[in-house]
Amino acid sequence: MNKIIINGGHELEGTIKIGGDKNSVVALIPAAILSDEEVTIANVPEISDIDALEEILEYLNAYVERNEDIIKINSKSIVNKEIPESIATKFRASYYFMGALLSKYKKVEIYFPGGCNIGSRPIDQHIKGFKALGATVIEEGNKYTITADKLIGTKITIDMPDKGATTSVGATINIMLAAVKAEGETIIENAAKEPQIVNVATFLNNMGAKIIGAGTSTIKIKGVTKLGSSFNEVIPDRIEAGTYMILASLIGKNVKIENIIPEHNEALINKLKEMGVNIELGRDYAIIKKCDNLKPVNIKTLVYPGFVTDLQQIMTAMLTQANGISIVEETIYENRFQNVKYLNDMGSNIIIEDDKPYCGKLYIHGKTPLKGCEVKATDLRGGASVVVAGLIAEGTTTITNIEHILRGYDKIIQKLTSIGAKITIE
Ligand code: EPU
Repeated sequence: MNKIIINGGHELEGTIKIGGDKNSVVALIPAAILSDEEVTIANVPEISDIDALEEILEYLNAYVERNEDIIKINSKSIVNKEIPESIATKFRASYYFMGALLSKYKKVEIYFPGGCNIGSRPIDQHIKGFKALGATVIEEGNKYTITADKLIGTKITIDMPDKGATTSVGATINIMLAAVKAEGETIIENAAKEPQIVNVATFLNNMGAKIIGAGTSTIKIKGVTKLGSSFNEVIPDRIEAGTYMILASLIGKNVKIENIIPEHNEALINKLKEMGVNIELGRDYAIIKKCDNLKPVNIKTLVYPGFVTDLQQIMTAMLTQANGISIVEETIYENRFQNVKYLNDMGSNIIIEDDKPYCGKLYIHGKTPLKGCEVKATDLRGGASVVVAGLIAEGTTTITNIEHILRGYDKIIQKLTSIGAKITIE
């Protein structure tokens, strides 16, 4: 089994170019099959979730050509058949084939998706949306058979009264995919506003869809009968950008993080500034120098534009280096503190408090020196948090279960090595 080995404590200097957004591209690729012609997606990151998507496309007999960061997809020859559990559970975004195949073929047979084990992650709002559009959904164990004679536009309100999250990114995109060729108009109320929703809507509109309002809480979709060829670029990955911003704030001599959209990271940038970090922002870059006297701050994860849950675990690693007590509240996922055990093994002093109705709170007592040891990547961002901890720790950190990290971080070893990190895969 592969491991990441880090020799920590080395200052970082140089430029890192951010890749395409994982959580956009994993929706853009299923969306591509809605077209009757070839579509091209550029700025595709090198992550293993893309390999899993490619496997589904090839299994369905679509034509896929991947060349560096460009992917071309032609779905003319698709054979719509059951997507087996062994493929669907490899990653979370396999659920976007529900909306895309339902939209195009009025039938989809697929299993409950996989993805990081960070909470219960139901898909009731996706299913509610498909049913509202006129589909019949049969659930047998983990298998979903979704069929429709026709799909008819309607008003769908995403509504999760029992959850900390007030809306769902996945349900918003999946309903958009299902509604794009439905008869008449679909209105999604309380839609998620994350940047990836805008990226997907722009891509569909370039193919001929009629979607307005993406990025606001009301999205209106006028159904069209045909979608054509399109070229689209994946937006920069704001979580990858945020991860390197945090790292540079801790051990960056002068690190330039380029190909970013600073507005997408506004909540993080404000917190870093509050902690005392020196950040120079340009149109599409940030230059960051480490701060040796970090102030503690409190974080609460929220839907966009609030502080994103996907940076919570990485920020927690950073807060172990602030002078004082920081509090982190996770409101989106109930199981996103698994990294804490490993940070504490490295020397941090973090106490977990289960504080329902929120998913939980952390009290981080800083500043504590960290020492390298053997740790586990419990999930994608938990993995990134121990990479950051390992890079600032004294001595050697060995990370196991690194497949989680490779699912979502574009060329992570090459990028970190290029700015002076001592990190290898063994
Ligand atoms: N939820 C429901 N019912 C639903 C859908 C969601 O209760 O039908 C709940 C979830 O259980 C969760 C919350 O609502 O508590 C938010 O879920 P959401 O649907 O917004 O998340 P997702 O679409 O499954 C995507 C990203 C996640 C990211 C979240 C929130 C992908 C493939 N995943 O997940 O990314 O955390 O949005 O921004 O796009 C990651 O990159 O590390 C990651 C986990």
